[in-house]
Amino acid sequence: MTANTSLQDLNTRFAIPGVAAIVAGEKGLPMIQITTPAAEAHIYLHGAHVAHYQRPHEPPILYMDKASWFEDGKPIRGGVPVIFPWFGPNPNDASLPAHGLVRQRQWSILSIAHSGHDAVAVELGFSSNEQTRQSFPHDFELRYKVTVGKTLSMALTVTNKSDKPLTYECALHTYFRVGDIQFTTVDGLQGVSYYSKVEGNKVFQTGDHPITFTAETDRVYLNTRDVCVIKDPILNRRILVEKEGSLNTVVWNPWIAKAKAMPDFTDDAWPIMLCIEAVNSHFNAQTIQPAESRTMTQIVH
Ligand code: BG6
Repeated sequence: MTANTSLQDLNTRFAIPGVAAIVAGEKGLPMIQITTPAAEAHIYLHGAHVAHYQRPHEPPILYMDKASWFEDGKPIRGGVPVIFPWFGPNPNDASLPAHGLVRQRQWSILSIAHSGHDAVAVELGFSSNEQTRQSFPHDFELRYKVTVGKTLSMALTVTNKSDKPLTYECALHTYFRVGDIQFTTVDGLQGVSYYSKVEGNKVFQTGDHPITFTAETDRVYLNTRDVCVIKDPILNRRILVEKEGSLNTVVWNPWIAKAKAMPDFTDDAWPIMLCIEAVNSHFNAQTIQPAESRTMTQIVH
């Protein structure tokens, strides 16, 4: 799979009139614009990044930061960054980019097609190349199927293209728009152990109460396949976050100081976002054999 770049060429090959077009998005980056009666969405080829998903008469489901970079080699802040093949800092080389190699590179469109009633499925691909091999010496192929309809479904499939086992971490690092994090709660992780990056990676056990937010929160919930429910009394809605093929759930809000410290994050935007991430990381890293494929999916209702 090679990156396909000309907008005219992309539209000739993949557009669906009135439903899917490839346009110049922020800073001219190619972006797939989906419009269906059930929802609209924007998907950048840069990082295979879903930057917008909205159903009629509802505020956007995803949070996008106005200060985001939209530049080759840099990740987009907000929406759904695709994380592969490591989560967080690289364990062996701190000079490598955080959260892997594919959120800051251009992917290729493989197909755009109707999917059942009112939904559209976009499939994007990315293959290992000379550049990725310099920091991750393995051959792999990624396919990412985003289905836009009444729900937003995102399925990342990793295939091992080398002749030895492939071990990787991955995440769908979804930023949700909330009315005010201080009034937002998350259900579904009751009784699950987590380690907290802001508390020296100590392990804690969640009680039988929903998660509430009163400070910087950066937690890896361990061995959970459960659905999370974001309850947002300010925007008066519930968002259900379901997943398959993922064993960790990361819950993140940077709060005041960290928000200020991030150059691509608007200083005072921390109250209106919350990340609930479908993750396989740490001792839940995945190992697949040559030619084997494995899929991780997140579905937002
Ligand atoms: C979360 C991590 O997944 O991503 C946090 O748990 C990190 O530790 C956050 O700060 C954002 O990462 P980045 O690289 O996009 O700034």
